[in-house]
Amino acid sequence: WWGRVDRASKDPINGVTEAFLADPSSNKINLGVGAYLDDEGKPVVLQCVREAEAKIAASQFLGSISTAVSSKYVEESVKLVYGRDSDVIKEGTYAGVQALSGTGACRLFAELQRRFYPGSMIYLPDPTWSNHHNIWRDAQVCKRTFRYYDPDTKGINFAALVDDIKNAPNGSFFLLHPCAHNPTGIDPTEEQWQEISYLFKVKNHFPFFDMAYQGVASGDLERDANAIRIFLKDGHLIGCAQSFAKNMGLCGHRIGCLSVLCDDKRQGVTIKSQLQQIARAMYGSPPLHGMLLVSTILGDPEIKRLWVKEMKVMANRVQRMRATLRQVLEKLGSPLNWEHITNQVGMFCFSGLSPDQVDQLARDFHIYMILDGRMSMAGVTTGNVNYLANAIHEVTRN
Ligand code: LMR
Repeated sequence: WWGRVDRASKDPINGVTEAFLADPSSNKINLGVGAYLDDEGKPVVLQCVREAEAKIAASQFLGSISTAVSSKYVEESVKLVYGRDSDVIKEGTYAGVQALSGTGACRLFAELQRRFYPGSMIYLPDPTWSNHHNIWRDAQVCKRTFRYYDPDTKGINFAALVDDIKNAPNGSFFLLHPCAHNPTGIDPTEEQWQEISYLFKVKNHFPFFDMAYQGVASGDLERDANAIRIFLKDGHLIGCAQSFAKNMGLCGHRIGCLSVLCDDKRQGVTIKSQLQQIARAMYGSPPLHGMLLVSTILGDPEIKRLWVKEMKVMANRVQRMRATLRQVLEKLGSPLNWEHITNQVGMFCFSGLSPDQVDQLARDFHIYMILDGRMSMAGVTTGNVNYLANAIHEVTRN
């Protein structure tokens, strides 16, 4: 038995964490995984989460979990995406289910796609979060990529993106990052989103949004939902994966939501029944505690206000570190242009460092990041930013 099994390749993101943990150096820096750290480089449990914990502990919740509680969770989650006062919410024209964070939401959707649109393809941005490729591969949906990034400008290659949208067969599925694109940190402008939405209408493409970073890009939940609101206004049916891993710091709780907009309420009930059946066979039922935390935070105006405040603090800290890193590199006299560090948004900076330079940073300076040069800005602190800038300057000066 099992002699036929070869070792799987390491996950590019988790592999960085492993290498970082194995390094005994005291000045090592982990810029791999996109998880928020405070200015001391420590993981944070938000105060809003602590308050929700206390509220849950004091209640009878666990004894009386009902479908009403999870429906409330889904309703509060989708309100964040589509807007509290949107017709979708008022009329209930969606199918929404709790999911195992953003990954699980994408996986459920990929399965739905394969079952009901067999032979269809998913277009992923090039580049995208590496796990998107794994998810649609395992759901046995064929993948194609559409062009997104321009290495010369370290910005968006909008002309190529438009071409690829136009050239895809009518009625294709596309995965879009509505804010804080992972890994590039580059989002289309409002006008560009409008054009993308228009082209999707013309081509009858299906937009599936992976919303992993709502509130993390700008510190403002509404602003970060703007791309989706544009599509909504244009009358698209939309799919959306939501995760509370980043904006509530709940990565370990695997708490997310999948929503699919439908023509009417009845279709919503039908699609939901299919999603529930898919989830049932995959993992039975989702974990309770994270769902209770999120629904408590979203359902209590005071705790929600606290969350929004804490989210701004996280977003601001990351923005401050972007500005500082760029400033220090410029002060060091780096001949390269580092404007993209502050032009890009969200958790990541797509630095433009080559794989060799990334290797050298790990080998000579104990600084770890993904081979494509993506740096998690959450790993940058007041205490290590000078060291980091010096190291980047060293490996890029020739
Ligand atoms: C990342 O891109 O670093 C995050 O989405 C975390 C993960 O699990 O990959």
